Amino acid sequence: MININENFLNLQDSYLFSTIAKKVAEFQKNNPDKKVIKLGIGDVTRPIVPAILDAMHKAVEELGNQDTFRGYGPEQGYEFLREKIVEFDYKKRGVNVSIDEIFVSDGAKCDCGNIGDILGIDNVVAITDPVYPVYLDTNVMMGRSGKYNEETGMFENIIYMPVTSENNFVPEFPEKVPDIIYLCLPNNPTGTTLTKEQLEKWVEYARKNKALILFDGAYEAYISEENIPHSIYEIEGAKEVAIEFKSFSKNAGFTGVRCAYTVVPKELKGYTKSGEEVSINSLWNRRHGTKFNGVSYPVQKAAEAVYSADGQKQIKENIEYYMNNAKIIKEGLQEAGFTVYGGVNAPYIWLKVPDGMTSWEFFDKLLKDVNVVGTPGVGFGPSGEGYFRLTAFGTKENTIEAINRIKNMK
Ligand code: MLT
Repeated sequence: MININENFLNLQDSYLFSTIAKKVAEFQKNNPDKKVIKLGIGDVTRPIVPAILDAMHKAVEELGNQDTFRGYGPEQGYEFLREKIVEFDYKKRGVNVSIDEIFVSDGAKCDCGNIGDILGIDNVVAITDPVYPVYLDTNVMMGRSGKYNEETGMFENIIYMPVTSENNFVPEFPEKVPDIIYLCLPNNPTGTTLTKEQLEKWVEYARKNKALILFDGAYEAYISEENIPHSIYEIEGAKEVAIEFKSFSKNAGFTGVRCAYTVVPKELKGYTKSGEEVSINSLWNRRHGTKFNGVSYPVQKAAEAVYSADGQKQIKENIEYYMNNAKIIKEGLQEAGFTVYGGVNAPYIWLKVPDGMTSWEFFDKLLKDVNVVGTPGVGFGPSGEGYFRLTAFGTKENTIEAINRIKNMK
């Protein structure tokens, strides 16, 4: 008899972005003449820049040559890439991270989910609310949550930390002390972030309570203001309590190419039930080496080129392009009378839906009346109700058109 993992039966509907894609496909089927503009899922639209593309091409050629062909690479990633990560993403910011603390992978989404493999089932998990759905769903799959409560829209045994306009999108320490805390900064979906001082308090809290911070820094390249940490390790003591997830998806347009990395510091310790200390880095290394065979060589060469002088210059232009879209959305919506958050240190705009509407009602109205797709706030958690997310990752032309349509919406 085949027994299933019944935790999966606790999950709600389908994955948020699949639900939206299905709704949009249905609308398009019934309205083939309408031009739908998608500002829903945070997927990039700018092509891969030339410096990166060249490096990828060259690497592909190498694979076709007897002398330079490569088979399996190191599961943790080639040193040429990990050295660049250490140098550019950390050393340059005054942060000391060593090569064997870096694990290259095919995506921060996978890593954020997979990290749960090495953590005990009894850990109490805290997420911000609203939240990137992967953190919650993967814990539900593993069995760290109880049942879903239809009334509250929350899972039992999960700590929800509201981040709304009422607390300026700054999560407060929960009543019950968690063992695992997910922080995504700059934040998806609210587009807001924390200052260094605010993040320091969380590191201090985690150290005091021997809790683990799972820090998702996928949107780091979009930080434009001073005093916003680009890595949690800029904060003293963070290496004892935090794992950091980074991605090439949003800074270099790799959503379809797939490359990311996770930093698991050697100072970070977990505990057995009997209180023995265990290196989390060793556990992750064991897991990674067993379940993963490394990112392909051409993709890692492409990722390495992100750090070249031309690569840096060219990706910066794309980031500026997207942040200009963010400005167009933000200012356009403000002119139209909306209350708007985010969009300064992140490519997401988080807006308040008009009074008396739910975020799914606003989603339907936007799709039907002006053929624009966004993401309903409640899809990210109950505290997202009344909010709506638009992404700045569209083309400039589509972004301008979408905002004009929203401005003229009745
Ligand atoms: C989002 O739209 O929230 C993101 O694109 C999803 C992701 O990065 O996996």
